[in-house]
Amino acid sequence: MSNAVVIGMQWGDEAKGKIVDYLSGNADLVVRYNGGNNAGHTVVIGEEVYKFHTVPVGILNEGVTAVIADGVVLDPAIVAEELRSLAPKGIGKEKIKISGNTHVLMPWHRLFDNLQETSKGSKKIGTTGRGIGPCYADKISRIGLRMSEFIDPARFKAKLHDILAVKNAIITKVYGGEPLDEAAIYAEYSEYAKELAPLVCDTAKLIFEAADSGKKIVFEGAHGSLLDIDHGTYPYVTSSHCVAGGASIGTGIGPTMIDKVIGITKAYSTRVGEGPFPTELFDEIGDKIRRQGNEFGTTTGRPRRCGWLDTVISRFTARANGTTGVALTLLDVLTGFDTIKVCAAYEIDGKITRDFPTDVEVLAKAKPVYEEMKGWSEDISECKRFEQLPEAARKYVKRVEQLIESPICVLGVGRRRDQSIILDHEIMTL
Ligand code: IMP
Ligand code: MG
Repeated sequence: MSNAVVIGMQWGDEAKGKIVDYLSGNADLVVRYNGGNNAGHTVVIGEEVYKFHTVPVGILNEGVTAVIADGVVLDPAIVAEELRSLAPKGIGKEKIKISGNTHVLMPWHRLFDNLQETSKGSKKIGTTGRGIGPCYADKISRIGLRMSEFIDPARFKAKLHDILAVKNAIITKVYGGEPLDEAAIYAEYSEYAKELAPLVCDTAKLIFEAADSGKKIVFEGAHGSLLDIDHGTYPYVTSSHCVAGGASIGTGIGPTMIDKVIGITKAYSTRVGEGPFPTELFDEIGDKIRRQGNEFGTTTGRPRRCGWLDTVISRFTARANGTTGVALTLLDVLTGFDTIKVCAAYEIDGKITRDFPTDVEVLAKAKPVYEEMKGWSEDISECKRFEQLPEAARKYVKRVEQLIESPICVLGVGRRRDQSIILDHEIMTL
């Protein structure tokens, strides 16, 4: 049996899509288990750029079945649209399975996301506005709408009525807004329910049986470890379990059935939305990283905040995920800098530490302790082997590996699937 969880080790957008796509080459199942359409995964194959928000990106590989498992919150309008965009590429509905336990994102979730953000003013989280937090909040409060109810017209109708009575009272009385129209929502969403119903099945059984019979599975983590609801920079996080354990929680597969955890980190750092970011750069170096890395959000188009690599973070998230290997991506973006800095420790209240504080007020005080390294100017985007990299790039990779305390198994040197330098073929093959 061989399966791997792929997770982000920073604040999302670590180029997981590319690594997932690489691993999915000979996979049988690709599984999304957390988050929703706040995620944006990009894959470049040849000249074509594919962007996905809910359907697992591994679907682009032949012979793969894509699973949207229990832990996901699913916007039916978005998924219906993604299905329609996949059809002309010969990827039919029969290749996609959805758990009946997924929670359905409804218009009130998006509305509350925006109302809550607006009411927070300068303390806003900077969410993607997709309704993710309110949908997970309803799930945890046990008042959510599950996919299995949504696709049953009678249950959906009754539940919609009950939920809207409460939501509309809050919308009108607390926020002074206009109530949502029950009949219009029922009419629109019943159509999505009809489209999605044939895809709904017992995905935990499907995944268990696949794993048990030695099939190859990629668990596609969304977002990044520091956006994890428990282990991230709370409250500047998303509302799902982004660390590798989320693959077990979000699918119903026991943790002992997971073989490998591949953590993805960029060769630098980015963050979208608010919250502390110790190595953030506010100067032309940050602008250059943003430009060279095309660091604009896949989901919202927002410019991403950019900074040097922070190995206090990567060491912490390597531990939180139990990484068996680390993919260091977007190394090519660091081409053309005279000096490259890497954060090796923090200074907090005059003390040096390599431990990552998850209390944001403490983190906000952390001053990065940098090591400076020589940069390189050669184009590395067509390098196929480690030895072909300039000496400065090789030194950078080796030092990062020491600081993270977890082996680096692959380097990303360009956007295309084949622009990867594999350092450990065993880990990178399912
Ligand atoms: P939410 O997930 O929309 O509630 O947003 C919460 C925070 O997580 C915001 O700072 C978002 O920008 C951030 N976030 C959520 N998903 C992603 C992602 O896939 N990449 C990067 N940031 C994300
Ligand atoms: Mg993304």
